[in-house]
Amino acid sequence: MEPKGFIPYGRQWIDADDERAVLSTLRSDFLTQGPATPRFEADLAAYVGARFAVAVSSATAGLHLTMAALDLGPGEGITTPITFVATANAMAYVGLTPVFADIDAETLNLSPVATRAAMTDRTRVIAPVHFAGRPADMAAFRQIADETGVRIVEDAAHAIGSEYGTGKVGDCRHSDATVFSFHPVKTMTTGEGGAVTTNDPDLHERLLQLRSHGVTRDPARLSDPPGTWWYEQQMLGFNHRMTEIQAALGSSQLKKLDRFIDRRLAIVDRYQAAFAGLDWLRTPLARGSDRIGYHLFVVQIDFERIGRSRAEVMAALAGMGVGSQVHYIPVPRQPWYRQTYGEPAAFPAADRYYDRALSLPLFPAMTDEEVERVISAVRGLVSGDMA
Ligand SMILES: Cc1ncc(COP(=O)(O)O)c(C=O)c1O
Repeated sequence: MEPKGFIPYGRQWIDADDERAVLSTLRSDFLTQGPATPRFEADLAAYVGARFAVAVSSATAGLHLTMAALDLGPGEGITTPITFVATANAMAYVGLTPVFADIDAETLNLSPVATRAAMTDRTRVIAPVHFAGRPADMAAFRQIADETGVRIVEDAAHAIGSEYGTGKVGDCRHSDATVFSFHPVKTMTTGEGGAVTTNDPDLHERLLQLRSHGVTRDPARLSDPPGTWWYEQQMLGFNHRMTEIQAALGSSQLKKLDRFIDRRLAIVDRYQAAFAGLDWLRTPLARGSDRIGYHLFVVQIDFERIGRSRAEVMAALAGMGVGSQVHYIPVPRQPWYRQTYGEPAAFPAADRYYDRALSLPLFPAMTDEEVERVISAVRGLVSGDMA
């Protein structure tokens, strides 16, 4: 437990409407496989502008399900080293070898140029991650897919509500499927939870069936059912279902998502202005006209220049009641990846970013006073830069 008054780097915002939605589901006939899940799926599909949404128990489950439903392994999948391990793990689950390509140093997203360079005739899928909420260059990845036939799975764990051009992340205009996370630190929450969106009816059917053991009860898809009890397992599936309690919370949170994002944007703008003059700290690329549903506010600090290590800075901030985190240790440097796939290549942009990265608190329930406390704590890291 953190001390009272401590500002974590992220946390959920639950209100009385959310509590009512959860309680009424607990008192209903269905705790799983009832009406709340398809309702949440319809709400989410409408919000992002996709034909279909499939609610799942986590984004990890959603990534796994999507990789399995696309029938991708064996072969290789390409993603960014600057992501949570779940993106690459989902490839490994289905027998794909995860291959990492460097990031773009400005956007911090997977670089389409580096992706092209990493492709081989075994590449089956590219999984761009919309890092911190900023959409990846999806038009460029679509072009690669059109030229080569590889599949595109968007990891939008950070990016619910973000927009690119005239659409929202998750509309799958340039991809086969998009996966969201509703973990409590994310922009909206269902406790644990996630969802996959797609416009492909066949993929949608496979996702639904694989989510529930590969089993179907649909009479139209049964060979010769002897009675009403009959079901068939037609593929090797999983139990990756979301509960009704989570789905009810999801529909309730979705109604507030745009307000959550407005508040996140106001905090981001305040941080950007407050840190603009610090020559030892780099703020995220300024946002253009597209609305970004920022999940994280990641700064890059020149620790050498300020003469304090990252561990010292994190301890100093914690001492002032300010949480911070590092997103992420490059995945190919994790012990399991090194043992399984060998020592990774150098990723100049990702490695340089990792050496400097620090995520500062960003969540909609932050008060103005808390935002100012974070700003003074950060500025105070270097004497002479105090607010
Ligand atoms: C980029 C990314 N992908 C996937 C995941 C996995 O999400 P979940 O915790 O819902 O399984 C996360 C979670 O932190 C993430 O940040």
